[in-house]
Amino acid sequence: MVRLLHPRGTEISFTLNNGVRIPALALGTANPPESIGGTKQAVKTAIKAGYRHIDTAWAYGSEPYVGEAIKELLEEGVIRREDIFITSKVWPVLWDDAERSLNESLQSLGVDYIDLWLQHWPICYAKVKDPHGINGLSRNPEKENGEPDYETSGDWIETYVQMEKIYLNPSDRRVRSIGVSNFPEQYLERIIYECAVKPTVNQVEMHPKLPQFSLNKFCLSHNILTAAYSPLGSHGAPNTKIPLVEELAEKYSVSPGAILNSYHIRQGHLVIARSLNNARIASNMEFATLTEEDLDKLDNLGVTEPKRYVDEKWNAIVPGFTGKGPKI
Ligand SMILES: NC(=O)c1ccc[n+]([C@@H]2O[C@H](COP(=O)([O-])OP(=O)(O)OC[C@H]3O[C@@H](n4cnc5c(N)ncnc54)[C@H](OP(=O)(O)O)[C@@H]3O)[C@@H](O)[C@H]2O)c1
Repeated sequence: MVRLLHPRGTEISFTLNNGVRIPALALGTANPPESIGGTKQAVKTAIKAGYRHIDTAWAYGSEPYVGEAIKELLEEGVIRREDIFITSKVWPVLWDDAERSLNESLQSLGVDYIDLWLQHWPICYAKVKDPHGINGLSRNPEKENGEPDYETSGDWIETYVQMEKIYLNPSDRRVRSIGVSNFPEQYLERIIYECAVKPTVNQVEMHPKLPQFSLNKFCLSHNILTAAYSPLGSHGAPNTKIPLVEELAEKYSVSPGAILNSYHIRQGHLVIARSLNNARIASNMEFATLTEEDLDKLDNLGVTEPKRYVDEKWNAIVPGFTGKGPKI
């Protein structure tokens, strides 16, 4: 048995390419609609346990609950605003109105700045009114035939251009860093070529069954930090049941969730794991100093049992990239 003589995942941080420090482990808040109200308690539990990074988004509907939790924690004196790192994102229905997205996120969160602001996807959705949607807009607009309703005249880079204008304005302190999410290499190349500000982070689905070797190599060579979402395999955490993960959990005396989080942190990547359960929130913070051999074995799952759990449909869009936005 290996003894734990190392920090917890929440105590490790990295430096972004603009010099801002970012905690390596974040609590995810993309909770299912039926349990979204539990987000407030989960955030309070997590921060009291030592988490210092909360990942949310305009589209999750969880920002008001994250905001309530932060407000109470500030009032209770548990934290100061500057002690915590908040990541939020611009959803593609607001692809041409990043200002609105930012203002609504800030208002819901009850804060006056966001530490990391990401373009959620490199696509443009049509704006369709929906009283049950997010702030009156349909989150996933669809045409009558069920296909996604894209704004075909839009260019996804417009979102990032608007975000960097806000970031670069010296009298505007609302955003400390900007980045992207779900960006394949070609899309990152276009941003690097056409925009003034290099993304600090690219947040993508990543775990042993989807190790993203090529994307990671690209991001490393451009000093863009990769952030892993759905490390546990998303709903129901199927990755925690992988025999190798269970074996390593036993070897290091930590939870399978901690092995999956450590897999990323150990390689210098951010990781975002979600839980509404107090015990799992705590056990996911543990950190195991996995050996190179352990990492190689975990990486090998991406070869022998490759699996993408989230947003499979976008996989098909991305290879159609033409340099002017996705072919849709
Ligand atoms: N940028 C993007 O497009 C994008 C896409 C997806 C996700 N994300 C971000 O990444 C976060 C994490 O991804 P995710 O929400 O897809 O899923 P995930 O964190 O991989 O898995 C969440 C699931 O695992 C369960 N769980 C948590 N800890 C566990 C443990 N130790 N043992 C067993 N089960 C455990 C949770 O249930 P309980 O609540 O019952 O514990 C929940 O069902 C999101 O919340 C969001 O913030 C971003």
